[in-house]
Parts: sequence; structure tokens; C-alpha cells
Amino acid sequence: MLRTICFASVVLVLAAFPLSIESQQVSENVAEHYLPPYDNPMITAERFKKILQESPITRWSATTKSSSKDTKEEPVKLNTTYTYRPEWPDPSRKLGTVSAVSFDKDGNVVVFHRVDRIWTGRTFNYANLYQEKSLGPITKNTIIAFDRKTGKVVYECGKNLFYMPHGLTVDHENNIWVTDVALHQVMKLSPKCSSDKPLLVLGTAFSPGIVKKFCKPTAVAVLPNGDFFISDGYCNSRILKLSKEGDIILTWGENSFQGDAHEVAPPNFFAIPHGLTLTKDAELLCVADRENGRVQCFHTSNGTFHSQYHSNTVGDRLFGVGYAPISGGQLFVVNGPENKNNHEVQGYIIDMSTKQVLSKFGPNGSQFSNPHDLAVSEDGSEIYVAELDPPRIHKFVYKNAALSDQIRGDEGEFDEFVVSKQRRRGCLLYGTHKRRHAWDFPTVKTDGFKLGSLLDRKHGFEKLDQNASDEDPDASTSILSSAQFA
Ligand SMILES: *[C@@H]1O[C@H](CO)[C@@H](O)[C@H](O)[C@H]1NC(C)=O
Ligand SMILES: *[C@@H]1O[C@H](CO)[C@@H](O)[C@H](O)[C@H]1NC(C)=O
Ligand SMILES: *[C@@H]1O[C@H](CO)[C@@H](O)[C@H](O)[C@H]1NC(C)=O
Ligand SMILES: *[C@@H]1O[C@H](CO)[C@@H](O)[C@H](O)[C@H]1NC(C)=O
Repeated sequence: MLRTICFASVVLVLAAFPLSIESQQVSENVAEHYLPPYDNPMITAERFKKILQESPITRWSATTKSSSKDTKEEPVKLNTTYTYRPEWPDPSRKLGTVSAVSFDKDGNVVVFHRVDRIWTGRTFNYANLYQEKSLGPITKNTIIAFDRKTGKVVYECGKNLFYMPHGLTVDHENNIWVTDVALHQVMKLSPKCSSDKPLLVLGTAFSPGIVKKFCKPTAVAVLPNGDFFISDGYCNSRILKLSKEGDIILTWGENSFQGDAHEVAPPNFFAIPHGLTLTKDAELLCVADRENGRVQCFHTSNGTFHSQYHSNTVGDRLFGVGYAPISGGQLFVVNGPENKNNHEVQGYIIDMSTKQVLSKFGPNGSQFSNPHDLAVSEDGSEIYVAELDPPRIHKFVYKNAALSDQIRGDEGEFDEFVVSKQRRRGCLLYGTHKRRHAWDFPTVKTDGFKLGSLLDRKHGFEKLDQNASDEDPDASTSILSSAQFA
């Protein structure tokens, strides 16, 4: 049986060099290890171990977990090239937990927030079934577009539809795509909230699954031709590419978040694919591989692995990723609070060609608490960060290099705003107690499916195998930390 693991023990201890980003190309002769046919999501610890053993190229240039267990990192001297705009948006518009942010075609900043809902240990059971249905859908607008300059609300919608908002993106026709982890659904809404009725609903409400269904899907990314990607998600750990019509074109990815804790995960394995961005020029889909603390990029054409980006500066949790086609391509990421390692919770900018972390940004030159997603303008001049708690949308504006010294000075002044990173991680609060996570449990066996039939009620409901878990007897009684419920 799979061994259960402590959440923190999964936290990978990776690159030895604070500023270096590891990035490796998969060579042709090992590609078969990373492109398993989509027929076996029930990966065992043994199989995963074997894959790791057979794939030396996937190793980070890393210290071992045991040898670096309690090491703190050298403080990193990174320049901050963005200034914080605390006055934005209009403070009269109250937001709940903000889970996602994106630009619409007109440059408005569109956020997805949870209003009065909080994802806690009671929100889902171990079979990923939503437990708070009786609350009904969120009755206030969950989607709000703010003017980039004035911070005033431009349009809003999304009431009486959602239970636990997660991802949001706006496509080239201004359609708004969202995911709801409670519903296990992906929806497409009308441009600029022009209608209250979704244009498209994918997946079966409240019914997680892998065949013709999703399980806590996290994000959507849409290509200019209308084809789109879904990261699915907390339990299935896969990426799907679908045609504009909703037919599956590609699917890839496996869960590395099961069984034993491994120090590194090979390409194509995810420990929660949590956010998506497209690099328009390079034709890559880049995935925030959350608990692996890395960004993995894949060819949008065929789903093959292209490169990955990790830095010890950023750490072992990476929640959101954005991209700007400047200076050969830059990734903008936000990390998350960690149990053990003393990483600053910040936004970071990673140069895709040199693999270096170029700079960082945080509110008032200080740290975030629980950033979840971000959006960056195409010219890199503006960054918006969605934060869960405190519930906020943050704005940053690029400052030219001549002012960077002054900005660095500001950082010192704002020391008092530094927020503790020792935050609500299960293993911190509950010692070395071993337990598994809801998303560790695979749901049902899989076969290929067409999304068209997701909407076909006749074929949309199969019973989930809720006995798929082999959870420790004591696991169900452990209180889960809240930082993971994101
Ligand atoms: C930070 O800025 C200073 C002065 O502009 C520059 O000399 C230094 O190389 C920069 N550091 C990094 C890590 O970019
Ligand atoms: C996938 O597509 C990329 C770019 O289109 C190409 O370079 C690569 O060889 C392709 N890989 C496979 C396995 O077809
Ligand atoms: C940033 O500083 C401003 C001015 O001191 C303050 O009003 C605001 O609350 C601060 N914001 C954060 C997120 O710390
Ligand atoms: C799980 O297993 C138990 C005992 O083996 C069985 O009684 C129960 O019906 C199963 N539940 C499901 C959902 O398959």
C-alpha cells in the first residue's frame, strides 16, 4: 500500500545555488518516461520510484533533503524594480478571498473572489466531495473588473453560480473562463459579464472524477485560435488541451504527490498543477507546479515537456505564474508560505533564457501572506497579485533602474510589515504526524473521453470509487492545516 506522508516532508529541498534556476530539456531517448499514455493515473509508489531511478536527467543539482534539513538560506540581495500602489483599487469595493486575477482584452483587471467563503478542512471530504452545499451558491458577484488606472469597478457578475471560485482567465474574445473546485467544473461566461448565464459548462456539478469529469480543476488558458488548456487539478494532476468545440486534443501529467516523499519530481509530474500561463511568442504553456515549487513549460502544439524553472530563492511552493514577452521572455511567479524553510513570500521575476531570478516585489516592499495568482501586463509595466488572506488585490508598477536604490531603501523602512511565514502548515502545527491529503486519492480508472460528452447527461454520471484511498486509520482524525486549502 502507499505510504502516507507528512505534508512538509514532501516539500522538496532543491537547488544549492540561491540564484540559479534549473532547467532541463528532456532528450528524446527518455521521453517515454514522461509521456505516459493517458491510461494509468493510479501510479504506485513503486512505479514512481522506478521512474525516478531511471531518470538521472531529472535530478536537480541539489543537496539532499537530509543534509539540508534545517539550513536557512542566505539572505538574497535582489533589487526590487516595482513600486507598490496601496491606493489601488477603490477601497469601497470589499473583496472576499481573492483567488484569481487576469486582464481582459481592454486592459481591465478582472478578479475572481470567494466573497464569504473560506476553504477549510471541512470544505471537502477525503473523496473530494464538497461538504458545504447547503450554503447554496455565493449570492454576491464573484467576478469583478476594475479599471487599471482609476481602480473603479467597470463591470461585475458571477452571483448565484459558484461555491468555491479558483481560477479565472479572459480569452481573446473577452470571454471569461473560470474554475470552481467545489463544483468540479469549468465555465465560460459572456464578455464583460454581458449575461448571467454561462456560455459553456464543462464537468458535472459536485461530482469529481477523471472520466468525463474533473476533480478540483484549478485554471484555464486559452490560445488565440480558441483551443484551451485546463489544469485539473488538485487530485488528477493532469493538463488537458481541448479544441474550441470542447473535444479533447491532448492530456498529460501524473501525480507525484502520492506515496513516499520524493526529493524531486520528474518532468510531467505535478504536485498540484495550480496556475497556467501562455508564452505567446514561444508557444509554450507554463504551469505553476505548486507543491513541487517549480514552473514547468510544455509545447502547446503537442504537450511535450520543454523546460522547468526552480529557484531556492523562490522555494518549494509556487502558486501562480505569469509571463511577459520582454528581454527574451520573463516568468512572474508568486510563492507561498512554507513550514520550514525561511523563504520570503514575494513575487519573483525569472528570466527564461538565463534562468536567473532577476528581482522581486511585495506589498510596501514587504512580504505577502498568502498570494495565490498574478497577472502581468504584456510590457511588464504592471503586475497584479491576488491574495487569499488578507483578501486583497495588489497592484505594482515598474520603476526604472535609476530609482531602484530608493526602492531598496524603502524595503528597510517597511520591516515592520514583515509577516511571519511560520504559517498554518499541518506539519508545523502537528509535529511529524503523518497523514495524506484529499487530493492524494485517485478517484476512478480512466480512459480517453471527449469533452463533448461531458455535457451529455446520459454518460456523465459514474460512481466514484471512494474506497480508492488507503488512508491511515488516524489520518481522518487529524486536523488539516488551512494553508493547503487554497
Ligand atoms: C541591483 O542594482 C545594483 C545597482 O543598480 C546593481 O549593481 C546590481 O547588480 C543589482 N543586483 C541584481 C541582483 O540585479
Ligand atoms: C513538439 O513540438 C515541438 C514544437 O512544435 C517540437 O520541437 C517537438 O519536437 C515536438 N515533440 C514531439 C515529441 O513531437
Ligand atoms: C502599505 O502602506 C500603506 C501606507 O503606509 C498602508 O496604508 C497599507 O495598508 C499598506 N499595505 C500593506 C498591504 O501592507
Ligand atoms: C467500500 O468498501 C466497503 C467494504 O469493503 C463496502 O461495504 C462499501 O460499499 C465500499 N464503498 C464504495 C463506495 O465502494
